[in-house]
Amino acid sequence: MRLFSTLCGSNRGEIRRRTHMSGTMFLLLLFAVVLSSHGCPEKCLCSPQTVKCNNQNLDTIPRSLPANTKILFVTGNNISRISVDSFPSPLLHLTDLYLTGNEIEFVDAMAFVNLTNLVRLDLSNNKIQNFSETAFPTDSKLQVLNLSRSFHNHSYVDVLVSVLQSGHLLQLTVLDLSHNDLVILPEDILKSLPSLVNLSLQNSSIISIQNGTLKVPPLHDLDLRDNSLRDLPPTTLAEFSLKPDLHIHLAGNPWRCDCFIEDLLLWLKNSTQVLDVQNLTCADPEALRSQLLLQVGLPQLKCLGDMEGVLETSYVFLGLVLALIGVIFLLVLYLNRKGIKRWIYNIRDACRDHMEGYHYRYEINSDPRLANLSINSDV
Ligand SMILES: *[C@@H]1O[C@H](CO)[C@@H](O)[C@H](O)[C@H]1NC(C)=O
Ligand SMILES: *[C@@H]1O[C@H](CO)[C@@H](O)[C@H](O)[C@H]1NC(C)=O
Ligand SMILES: *[C@@H]1O[C@H](CO)[C@@H](O)[C@H](O)[C@H]1NC(C)=O
Ligand SMILES: *[C@@H]1O[C@H](CO)[C@@H](O)[C@H](O)[C@H]1NC(C)=O
Ligand SMILES: *[C@@H]1O[C@H](CO)[C@@H](O)[C@H](O)[C@H]1NC(C)=O
Ligand SMILES: *[C@@H]1O[C@H](CO)[C@@H](O)[C@H](O)[C@H]1NC(C)=O
Ligand SMILES: *[C@@H]1O[C@H](CO)[C@@H](O)[C@H](O)[C@H]1NC(C)=O
Ligand SMILES: *[C@@H]1O[C@H](CO)[C@@H](O)[C@H](O)[C@H]1NC(C)=O
Ligand SMILES: *[C@@H]1O[C@H](CO)[C@@H](O)[C@H](O)[C@H]1NC(C)=O
Ligand SMILES: *[C@@H]1O[C@H](CO)[C@@H](O)[C@H](O)[C@H]1NC(C)=O
Repeated sequence: MRLFSTLCGSNRGEIRRRTHMSGTMFLLLLFAVVLSSHGCPEKCLCSPQTVKCNNQNLDTIPRSLPANTKILFVTGNNISRISVDSFPSPLLHLTDLYLTGNEIEFVDAMAFVNLTNLVRLDLSNNKIQNFSETAFPTDSKLQVLNLSRSFHNHSYVDVLVSVLQSGHLLQLTVLDLSHNDLVILPEDILKSLPSLVNLSLQNSSIISIQNGTLKVPPLHDLDLRDNSLRDLPPTTLAEFSLKPDLHIHLAGNPWRCDCFIEDLLLWLKNSTQVLDVQNLTCADPEALRSQLLLQVGLPQLKCLGDMEGVLETSYVFLGLVLALIGVIFLLVLYLNRKGIKRWIYNIRDACRDHMEGYHYRYEINSDPRLANLSINSDV
Protein backbone atom coordinates (compact mmCIF):
# COMPACT_ATOMS: atom_id res chain seq x y z
CA MET A 1 0.00 0.00 0.00
CA ARG A 2 2.75 2.33 1.01
CA LEU A 3 4.77 1.56 -2.12
CA PHE A 4 1.76 1.91 -4.34
CA SER A 5 0.87 5.38 -3.18
CA THR A 6 4.42 6.47 -3.76
CA LEU A 7 4.27 5.03 -7.26
CA CYS A 8 1.11 6.92 -7.96
CA GLY A 9 2.63 10.04 -6.48
CA SER A 10 5.47 12.25 -7.54
CA ASN A 11 7.65 9.45 -8.89
CA ARG A 12 5.25 8.08 -11.50
CA GLY A 13 7.10 9.52 -14.47
CA GLU A 14 10.44 8.21 -13.32
CA ILE A 15 9.06 4.68 -12.82
CA ARG A 16 7.43 4.63 -16.25
CA ARG A 17 10.70 5.46 -17.94
CA ARG A 18 12.44 2.54 -16.30
CA THR A 19 9.91 -0.28 -16.77
CA HIS A 20 12.28 -2.11 -19.11
CA MET A 21 14.76 -2.68 -16.31
CA SER A 22 15.23 -6.05 -14.73
CA GLY A 23 13.04 -7.07 -11.78
CA THR A 24 15.91 -6.88 -9.30
CA MET A 25 16.93 -3.47 -10.51
CA PHE A 26 13.28 -2.38 -10.31
CA LEU A 27 12.92 -3.50 -6.71
CA LEU A 28 16.24 -1.94 -5.73
CA LEU A 29 15.20 1.31 -7.30
CA LEU A 30 11.85 1.23 -5.57
CA PHE A 31 13.60 0.66 -2.27
CA ALA A 32 15.81 3.65 -2.95
CA VAL A 33 12.86 5.82 -3.90
CA VAL A 34 10.95 4.83 -0.79
CA LEU A 35 13.94 5.59 1.40
CA SER A 36 14.70 8.93 -0.20
CA SER A 37 11.16 10.33 -0.08
CA HIS A 38 10.12 8.47 3.10
CA GLY A 39 7.12 7.25 1.15
CA CYS A 40 3.61 7.79 2.42
CA PRO A 41 2.96 7.03 6.10
CA GLU A 42 0.58 4.27 7.02
CA LYS A 43 -3.10 5.26 7.18
CA CYS A 44 -2.37 8.32 5.05
CA LEU A 45 -3.12 9.30 1.47
CA CYS A 46 -0.41 11.11 -0.40
CA SER A 47 -0.61 13.16 -3.54
CA PRO A 48 2.16 15.44 -4.70
CA GLN A 49 3.03 17.64 -1.73
CA THR A 50 -0.23 16.88 0.10
CA VAL A 51 -0.60 14.25 2.81
CA LYS A 52 -3.98 13.40 4.33
CA CYS A 53 -4.26 11.25 7.44
CA ASN A 54 -7.86 12.00 8.42
CA ASN A 55 -10.17 10.09 10.77
CA GLN A 56 -7.77 7.21 11.47
CA ASN A 57 -7.86 7.33 15.28
CA LEU A 58 -4.15 8.20 15.24
CA ASP A 59 -2.75 9.27 18.60
CA THR A 60 0.40 10.91 17.23
CA ILE A 61 1.42 12.78 14.11
CA PRO A 62 2.62 10.11 11.63
CA ARG A 63 6.38 9.66 11.45
CA SER A 64 8.47 9.84 8.30
CA LEU A 65 6.39 12.27 6.32
CA PRO A 66 7.67 12.93 2.80
CA ALA A 67 10.24 15.68 3.10
CA ASN A 68 8.58 17.67 0.34
CA THR A 69 5.18 17.77 2.08
CA LYS A 70 3.58 21.15 1.65
CA ILE A 71 0.09 20.55 3.04
CA LEU A 72 -0.59 18.13 5.87
CA PHE A 73 -4.01 17.09 7.19
CA VAL A 74 -4.18 15.07 10.40
CA THR A 75 -7.79 15.83 11.29
CA GLY A 76 -10.42 13.97 13.28
CA ASN A 77 -7.94 11.77 15.11
CA ASN A 78 -7.19 11.19 18.79
CA ILE A 79 -4.02 13.20 19.30
CA SER A 80 -3.78 14.67 22.80
CA ARG A 81 -0.36 16.29 22.69
CA ILE A 82 1.76 18.18 20.15
CA SER A 83 5.31 18.17 21.43
CA VAL A 84 8.86 18.64 20.28
CA ASP A 85 8.73 14.99 19.13
CA SER A 86 5.71 15.50 16.87
CA PHE A 87 7.88 16.92 14.07
CA PRO A 88 11.30 15.42 14.78
CA SER A 89 12.89 16.55 11.54
CA PRO A 90 12.57 19.78 9.61
CA LEU A 91 9.76 19.97 7.03
CA LEU A 92 10.98 22.98 5.15
CA HIS A 93 8.20 22.91 2.55
CA LEU A 94 5.31 22.56 4.95
CA THR A 95 3.10 25.66 4.80
CA ASP A 96 -0.32 24.32 5.81
CA LEU A 97 -1.04 22.14 8.82
CA TYR A 98 -4.61 21.09 9.67
CA LEU A 99 -5.13 19.53 13.09
CA THR A 100 -8.82 20.24 13.57
CA GLY A 101 -11.01 17.84 15.52
CA ASN A 102 -8.40 16.03 17.58
CA GLU A 103 -8.35 15.88 21.36
CA ILE A 104 -5.32 18.11 21.70
CA GLU A 105 -4.84 19.20 25.33
CA PHE A 106 -1.21 20.24 25.31
CA VAL A 107 0.91 22.14 22.79
CA ASP A 108 4.39 21.99 24.22
CA ALA A 109 7.45 24.17 23.90
CA MET A 110 9.23 23.99 20.51
CA ALA A 111 6.34 21.96 19.03
CA PHE A 112 6.41 23.81 15.69
CA VAL A 113 10.04 24.91 15.70
CA ASN A 114 10.98 22.49 12.90
CA LEU A 115 8.20 23.87 10.66
CA THR A 116 10.03 27.04 9.81
CA ASN A 117 7.84 27.94 6.83
CA LEU A 118 4.44 27.23 8.35
CA VAL A 119 1.91 29.80 7.11
CA ARG A 120 -1.49 28.34 8.07
CA LEU A 121 -2.20 26.37 11.22
CA ASP A 122 -5.64 25.03 12.09
CA LEU A 123 -6.04 23.88 15.69
CA SER A 124 -9.80 24.33 15.80
CA ASN A 125 -12.10 21.94 17.67
CA ASN A 126 -9.65 20.75 20.27
CA LYS A 127 -9.42 20.84 24.08
CA ILE A 128 -6.31 22.86 24.70
CA GLN A 129 -5.32 23.37 28.33
CA ASN A 130 -1.70 24.36 27.97
CA PHE A 131 -0.10 26.08 25.01
CA SER A 132 3.54 26.92 25.43
CA GLU A 133 4.51 30.45 24.50
CA THR A 134 7.64 29.00 22.86
CA ALA A 135 5.71 26.55 20.65
CA PHE A 136 6.47 28.64 17.56
CA PRO A 137 9.91 29.58 16.27
CA THR A 138 10.91 33.14 17.12
CA ASP A 139 10.79 34.21 13.47
CA SER A 140 7.57 32.33 12.72
CA LYS A 141 6.04 33.00 9.30
CA LEU A 142 2.59 32.02 10.51
CA GLN A 143 -0.13 34.15 8.90
CA VAL A 144 -3.35 32.28 9.67
CA LEU A 145 -4.06 30.75 13.06
CA ASN A 146 -7.37 29.02 13.65
CA LEU A 147 -8.20 28.57 17.31
CA SER A 148 -11.94 28.29 16.83
CA ARG A 149 -13.45 26.17 19.65
CA SER A 150 -9.90 25.17 20.58
CA PHE A 151 -9.82 25.66 24.33
CA HIS A 152 -11.08 23.22 26.91
CA ASN A 153 -13.02 25.91 28.76
CA HIS A 154 -12.99 29.45 30.10
CA SER A 155 -10.29 28.58 32.67
CA TYR A 156 -7.63 28.31 29.97
CA VAL A 157 -7.93 31.75 28.42
CA ASP A 158 -4.73 32.92 30.16
CA VAL A 159 -2.84 30.33 28.16
CA LEU A 160 -4.13 31.91 24.96
CA VAL A 161 -3.03 35.35 26.08
CA SER A 162 0.54 34.25 26.74
CA VAL A 163 0.82 32.59 23.32
CA LEU A 164 -0.46 35.66 21.49
CA GLN A 165 1.84 37.89 23.53
CA SER A 166 4.92 35.75 22.97
CA GLY A 167 6.14 38.10 20.27
CA HIS A 168 6.72 35.15 17.91
CA LEU A 169 3.67 35.84 15.73
CA LEU A 170 4.69 39.09 14.13
CA GLN A 171 3.35 38.08 10.70
CA LEU A 172 -0.01 36.81 11.85
CA THR A 173 -2.77 38.39 9.73
CA VAL A 174 -5.83 36.18 10.38
CA LEU A 175 -6.81 34.95 13.83
CA ASP A 176 -9.95 32.95 14.48
CA LEU A 177 -10.89 32.83 18.16
CA SER A 178 -14.57 32.10 17.59
CA HIS A 179 -16.61 29.77 19.80
CA ASN A 180 -14.32 30.05 22.80
CA ASP A 181 -15.82 31.13 26.09
CA LEU A 182 -13.56 34.17 26.49
CA VAL A 183 -16.01 36.58 28.28
CA ILE A 184 -13.44 39.35 28.63
CA LEU A 185 -10.66 40.21 26.23
CA PRO A 186 -7.58 41.10 28.26
CA GLU A 187 -6.59 44.61 27.27
CA ASP A 188 -3.17 43.67 25.86
CA ILE A 189 -4.12 40.40 24.14
CA LEU A 190 -3.48 41.86 20.65
CA LYS A 191 -0.55 44.04 21.63
CA SER A 192 2.10 41.77 20.06
CA LEU A 193 0.27 41.13 16.78
CA PRO A 194 1.35 44.07 14.61
CA SER A 195 0.10 42.50 11.34
CA LEU A 196 -3.32 41.28 12.45
CA VAL A 197 -5.99 42.21 9.90
CA ASN A 198 -8.82 39.70 10.42
CA LEU A 199 -10.03 38.82 13.89
CA SER A 200 -13.03 36.65 14.61
CA LEU A 201 -14.43 36.64 18.11
CA GLN A 202 -17.79 35.27 17.09
CA ASN A 203 -19.81 33.46 19.76
CA SER A 204 -17.23 33.95 22.51
CA SER A 205 -19.41 35.34 25.34
CA ILE A 206 -17.68 38.74 25.09
CA ILE A 207 -19.33 41.30 27.40
CA SER A 208 -17.16 44.34 26.65
CA ILE A 209 -14.27 45.65 24.59
CA GLN A 210 -11.91 47.51 26.87
CA ASN A 211 -10.35 50.78 25.84
CA GLY A 212 -7.01 50.21 24.13
CA THR A 213 -7.56 46.55 23.17
CA LEU A 214 -7.61 47.27 19.43
CA LYS A 215 -4.90 49.90 19.47
CA VAL A 216 -1.94 48.01 17.92
CA PRO A 217 -3.21 45.73 15.13
CA PRO A 218 -4.15 47.26 11.74
CA LEU A 219 -7.54 45.51 11.81
CA HIS A 220 -9.78 45.44 8.75
CA ASP A 221 -12.34 42.86 9.82
CA LEU A 222 -13.63 42.33 13.31
CA ASP A 223 -16.34 39.78 13.87
CA LEU A 224 -18.20 40.24 17.16
CA ARG A 225 -21.41 38.44 16.25
CA ASP A 226 -23.28 36.31 18.78
CA ASN A 227 -21.59 37.64 21.87
CA SER A 228 -23.03 39.14 25.07
CA LEU A 229 -22.54 42.83 24.29
CA ARG A 230 -25.32 45.04 25.73
CA ASP A 231 -23.79 48.43 24.93
CA LEU A 232 -20.52 49.88 23.62
CA PRO A 233 -19.05 52.80 25.56
CA PRO A 234 -17.94 56.01 23.79
CA THR A 235 -14.25 55.08 24.26
CA THR A 236 -14.76 51.91 22.23
CA LEU A 237 -16.69 53.78 19.54
CA ALA A 238 -13.86 56.31 19.36
CA GLU A 239 -11.40 53.45 19.01
CA PHE A 240 -13.42 52.00 16.10
CA SER A 241 -13.60 55.40 14.43
CA LEU A 242 -9.83 55.80 14.68
CA LYS A 243 -9.48 52.87 12.26
CA PRO A 244 -11.30 53.98 9.11
CA ASP A 245 -10.51 50.70 7.30
CA LEU A 246 -12.10 48.63 10.03
CA HIS A 247 -15.33 46.77 9.29
CA ILE A 248 -17.28 45.23 12.12
CA HIS A 249 -20.04 42.64 12.52
CA LEU A 250 -22.21 43.11 15.60
CA ALA A 251 -25.43 41.15 15.02
CA GLY A 252 -26.65 38.59 17.52
CA ASN A 253 -25.79 40.60 20.63
CA PRO A 254 -28.39 41.32 23.35
CA TRP A 255 -28.44 45.12 23.08
CA ARG A 256 -30.08 46.89 26.02
CA CYS A 257 -32.11 49.73 24.55
CA ASP A 258 -32.19 52.22 27.44
CA CYS A 259 -30.88 55.79 27.65
CA PHE A 260 -27.28 54.60 28.01
CA ILE A 261 -27.25 53.22 24.46
CA GLU A 262 -27.91 56.65 22.94
CA ASP A 263 -24.24 57.23 22.03
CA LEU A 264 -24.06 53.87 20.29
CA LEU A 265 -27.27 54.49 18.39
CA LEU A 266 -26.14 57.93 17.18
CA TRP A 267 -22.81 56.44 16.14
CA LEU A 268 -24.46 53.53 14.31
CA LYS A 269 -26.71 55.91 12.38
CA ASN A 270 -23.72 57.95 11.25
CA SER A 271 -21.04 55.29 10.73
CA THR A 272 -20.51 53.00 7.76
CA GLN A 273 -18.20 50.66 9.67
CA VAL A 274 -20.82 48.19 10.94
CA LEU A 275 -21.67 45.98 7.99
CA ASP A 276 -24.65 44.25 9.58
CA VAL A 277 -26.07 47.38 11.23
CA GLN A 278 -29.50 46.56 9.73
CA ASN A 279 -29.57 43.32 11.73
CA LEU A 280 -29.01 44.62 15.27
CA THR A 281 -31.96 44.10 17.62
CA CYS A 282 -32.82 45.09 21.19
CA ALA A 283 -33.03 42.37 23.84
CA ASP A 284 -34.48 44.62 26.57
CA PRO A 285 -36.56 46.32 27.82
CA GLU A 286 -39.63 44.14 27.28
CA ALA A 287 -41.39 46.85 25.25
CA LEU A 288 -38.57 47.02 22.68
CA ARG A 289 -37.61 43.36 22.51
CA SER A 290 -36.66 42.17 18.98
CA GLN A 291 -37.06 45.71 17.68
CA LEU A 292 -34.43 46.69 15.12
CA LEU A 293 -31.99 49.03 16.82
CA LEU A 294 -31.89 51.45 13.89
CA GLN A 295 -35.67 51.85 14.03
CA VAL A 296 -35.74 52.80 17.71
CA GLY A 297 -36.27 56.54 18.20
CA LEU A 298 -34.18 58.38 20.77
CA PRO A 299 -37.28 59.29 22.89
CA GLN A 300 -37.98 55.55 23.25
CA LEU A 301 -34.66 55.04 25.04
CA LYS A 302 -35.73 55.46 28.66
CA CYS A 303 -33.99 54.97 31.93
CA LEU A 304 -36.70 56.69 34.05
CA GLY A 305 -38.95 53.74 33.29
CA ASP A 306 -37.16 51.59 35.81
CA MET A 307 -37.06 54.39 38.41
CA GLU A 308 -40.81 55.05 38.09
CA GLY A 309 -41.45 51.40 38.77
CA VAL A 310 -39.25 51.50 41.85
CA LEU A 311 -40.92 54.69 43.13
CA GLU A 312 -44.41 53.31 42.54
CA THR A 313 -43.74 50.20 44.57
CA SER A 314 -42.15 52.21 47.37
CA TYR A 315 -45.20 54.53 47.53
CA VAL A 316 -47.53 51.57 47.75
CA PHE A 317 -45.38 50.13 50.50
CA LEU A 318 -45.37 53.42 52.39
CA GLY A 319 -49.18 53.59 52.14
CA LEU A 320 -49.54 50.09 53.50
CA VAL A 321 -47.25 50.87 56.45
CA LEU A 322 -49.21 54.04 57.28
CA ALA A 323 -52.53 52.16 57.09
CA LEU A 324 -51.18 49.48 59.41
CA ILE A 325 -50.00 52.09 61.92
CA GLY A 326 -53.46 53.71 61.74
CA VAL A 327 -55.22 50.43 62.40
CA ILE A 328 -52.95 49.65 65.36
CA PHE A 329 -53.59 53.13 66.76
CA LEU A 330 -57.36 52.70 66.49
CA LEU A 331 -57.11 49.24 68.07
CA VAL A 332 -55.14 50.63 71.01
CA LEU A 333 -57.72 53.35 71.42
CA TYR A 334 -60.55 50.81 71.35
CA LEU A 335 -58.92 48.48 73.87
CA ASN A 336 -58.29 51.39 76.21
CA ARG A 337 -61.72 52.89 75.77
CA LYS A 338 -62.56 52.66 79.51
CA GLY A 339 -59.28 54.20 80.56
CA ILE A 340 -59.71 56.88 77.94
CA LYS A 341 -63.25 57.59 79.10
CA ARG A 342 -61.98 57.94 82.64
CA TRP A 343 -59.21 60.14 81.46
CA ILE A 344 -61.63 62.34 79.53
CA TYR A 345 -63.89 62.61 82.59
CA ASN A 346 -60.87 63.53 84.68
CA ILE A 347 -59.91 66.21 82.20
CA ARG A 348 -63.49 67.41 82.10
CA ASP A 349 -63.61 67.56 85.89
CA ALA A 350 -60.30 69.30 86.02
CA CYS A 351 -61.54 71.80 83.45
CA ARG A 352 -64.73 72.30 85.36
CA ASP A 353 -62.81 72.97 88.58
CA HIS A 354 -60.58 75.32 86.70
CA MET A 355 -63.50 77.07 85.10
CA GLU A 356 -65.16 77.34 88.48
CA GLY A 357 -61.91 78.85 89.79
CA TYR A 358 -62.02 81.37 86.95
CA HIS A 359 -65.63 82.00 87.55
CA TYR A 360 -64.92 82.59 91.22
CA ARG A 361 -61.96 84.77 90.44
CA TYR A 362 -64.00 86.68 87.85
CA GLU A 363 -66.61 87.29 90.49
CA ILE A 364 -63.98 88.47 92.93
CA ASN A 365 -62.30 90.64 90.22
CA SER A 366 -65.61 92.10 89.21
CA ASP A 367 -66.27 93.07 92.83
CA PRO A 368 -64.83 96.56 92.94
CA ARG A 369 -64.37 96.23 96.67
CA LEU A 370 -61.89 93.41 96.28
CA ALA A 371 -60.10 94.67 93.14
CA ASN A 372 -57.10 96.17 94.88
CA LEU A 373 -56.65 93.15 97.07
CA SER A 374 -56.73 90.81 94.07
CA ILE A 375 -54.06 92.78 92.17
CA ASN A 376 -51.77 92.75 95.16
CA SER A 377 -52.14 89.01 95.71
CA ASP A 378 -51.34 88.34 91.98
CA VAL A 379 -48.01 90.08 92.16
C1 LIG B 1 -8.17 8.29 22.57
O1 LIG B 1 -7.00 8.26 23.39
C2 LIG B 1 -7.25 8.05 24.75
C3 LIG B 1 -5.94 8.09 25.46
O2 LIG B 1 -5.23 9.24 25.13
C4 LIG B 1 -7.96 6.73 24.97
O3 LIG B 1 -8.27 6.57 26.34
C5 LIG B 1 -9.24 6.69 24.14
O4 LIG B 1 -9.84 5.42 24.24
C6 LIG B 1 -8.92 6.97 22.69
N1 LIG B 1 -10.18 7.08 21.94
C7 LIG B 1 -10.45 6.29 20.93
C8 LIG B 1 -11.76 6.50 20.25
O5 LIG B 1 -9.68 5.41 20.57
C1 LIG C 1 14.38 19.62 14.38
O1 LIG C 1 15.02 18.77 13.49
C2 LIG C 1 16.36 18.39 13.85
C3 LIG C 1 16.88 17.46 12.81
O2 LIG C 1 17.29 18.14 11.71
C4 LIG C 1 16.39 17.75 15.20
O3 LIG C 1 17.73 17.52 15.59
C5 LIG C 1 15.72 18.67 16.21
O4 LIG C 1 15.68 18.05 17.46
C6 LIG C 1 14.32 18.98 15.74
N1 LIG C 1 13.58 19.74 16.72
C7 LIG C 1 13.86 20.95 17.13
C8 LIG C 1 12.95 21.52 18.17
O5 LIG C 1 14.77 21.61 16.73
C1 LIG D 1 1.62 24.24 31.52
O1 LIG D 1 2.76 24.94 31.07
C2 LIG D 1 3.50 25.53 32.10
C3 LIG D 1 4.63 26.35 31.47
O2 LIG D 1 4.89 25.95 30.18
C4 LIG D 1 4.06 24.43 32.99
O3 LIG D 1 4.78 25.01 34.05
C5 LIG D 1 2.90 23.62 33.54
O4 LIG D 1 3.39 22.55 34.29
C6 LIG D 1 2.04 23.10 32.42
N1 LIG D 1 0.89 22.43 32.96
C7 LIG D 1 0.50 21.23 32.55
C8 LIG D 1 -0.73 20.70 33.21
O5 LIG D 1 1.10 20.62 31.70
C1 LIG E 1 -11.52 27.77 11.54
O1 LIG E 1 -12.06 26.49 11.67
C2 LIG E 1 -13.47 26.44 11.66
C3 LIG E 1 -13.91 25.03 11.96
O2 LIG E 1 -12.93 24.10 11.78
C4 LIG E 1 -13.95 26.93 10.30
O3 LIG E 1 -15.35 26.89 10.26
C5 LIG E 1 -13.46 28.35 10.10
O4 LIG E 1 -13.83 28.80 8.81
C6 LIG E 1 -11.96 28.42 10.23
N1 LIG E 1 -11.52 29.81 10.22
C7 LIG E 1 -10.66 30.30 9.32
C8 LIG E 1 -10.30 31.73 9.47
O5 LIG E 1 -10.20 29.61 8.45
C1 LIG F 1 -12.68 23.74 33.20
O1 LIG F 1 -12.34 22.39 33.12
C2 LIG F 1 -11.69 21.88 34.29
C3 LIG F 1 -11.27 20.45 34.03
O2 LIG F 1 -12.19 19.75 33.29
C4 LIG F 1 -12.67 21.98 35.46
O3 LIG F 1 -12.07 21.52 36.63
C5 LIG F 1 -13.08 23.45 35.63
O4 LIG F 1 -14.05 23.55 36.63
C6 LIG F 1 -13.64 23.99 34.33
N1 LIG F 1 -13.86 25.42 34.48
C7 LIG F 1 -14.96 26.04 34.05
C8 LIG F 1 -15.02 27.51 34.25
O5 LIG F 1 -15.85 25.42 33.48
C1 LIG G 1 -21.42 28.96 20.36
O1 LIG G 1 -20.41 28.18 20.97
C2 LIG G 1 -20.88 27.10 21.75
C3 LIG G 1 -19.71 26.41 22.35
O2 LIG G 1 -18.87 27.32 23.00
C4 LIG G 1 -21.70 26.16 20.87
O3 LIG G 1 -22.24 25.13 21.67
C5 LIG G 1 -22.84 26.93 20.20
O4 LIG G 1 -23.52 26.11 19.30
C6 LIG G 1 -22.28 28.13 19.45
N1 LIG G 1 -23.38 28.95 18.93
C7 LIG G 1 -23.39 29.45 17.69
C8 LIG G 1 -24.53 30.34 17.33
O5 LIG G 1 -22.49 29.21 16.89
C1 LIG H 1 -11.42 38.44 6.63
O1 LIG H 1 -12.74 38.63 7.14
C2 LIG H 1 -13.72 38.86 6.14
C3 LIG H 1 -15.02 39.13 6.84
O2 LIG H 1 -15.23 38.27 7.92
C4 LIG H 1 -13.81 37.68 5.21
O3 LIG H 1 -14.76 37.93 4.21
C5 LIG H 1 -12.45 37.45 4.60
O4 LIG H 1 -12.48 36.31 3.79
C6 LIG H 1 -11.41 37.27 5.66
N1 LIG H 1 -10.09 37.16 5.07
C7 LIG H 1 -9.31 36.13 5.30
C8 LIG H 1 -7.99 36.15 4.63
O5 LIG H 1 -9.61 35.21 6.06
C1 LIG I 1 -8.59 55.24 25.95
O1 LIG I 1 -7.35 54.97 25.34
C2 LIG I 1 -6.74 56.07 24.70
C3 LIG I 1 -5.46 55.60 24.07
O2 LIG I 1 -5.66 54.37 23.44
C4 LIG I 1 -6.46 57.14 25.74
O3 LIG I 1 -5.90 58.27 25.09
C5 LIG I 1 -7.75 57.51 26.44
O4 LIG I 1 -7.47 58.43 27.48
C6 LIG I 1 -8.41 56.29 27.02
N1 LIG I 1 -9.68 56.67 27.57
C7 LIG I 1 -10.12 56.22 28.75
C8 LIG I 1 -11.45 56.68 29.18
O5 LIG I 1 -9.45 55.46 29.42
C1 LIG J 1 -20.59 61.57 11.44
O1 LIG J 1 -19.50 61.02 10.73
C2 LIG J 1 -18.62 61.96 10.17
C3 LIG J 1 -17.53 61.21 9.42
O2 LIG J 1 -18.02 60.02 8.90
C4 LIG J 1 -18.02 62.83 11.26
O3 LIG J 1 -17.21 63.82 10.71
C5 LIG J 1 -19.14 63.48 12.06
O4 LIG J 1 -18.58 64.17 13.17
C6 LIG J 1 -20.07 62.42 12.59
N1 LIG J 1 -21.19 63.05 13.26
C7 LIG J 1 -21.59 62.67 14.46
C8 LIG J 1 -22.77 63.37 15.04
O5 LIG J 1 -21.02 61.78 15.06
C1 LIG K 1 -29.07 39.95 8.34
O1 LIG K 1 -29.79 38.80 8.78
C2 LIG K 1 -30.35 38.04 7.73
C3 LIG K 1 -31.19 36.95 8.34
O2 LIG K 1 -30.58 36.41 9.47
C4 LIG K 1 -29.24 37.50 6.84
O3 LIG K 1 -29.77 36.76 5.79
C5 LIG K 1 -28.44 38.68 6.29
O4 LIG K 1 -27.35 38.20 5.55
C6 LIG K 1 -27.93 39.54 7.42
N1 LIG K 1 -27.31 40.74 6.87
C7 LIG K 1 -26.06 41.07 7.12
C8 LIG K 1 -25.54 42.31 6.49
O5 LIG K 1 -25.33 40.38 7.86
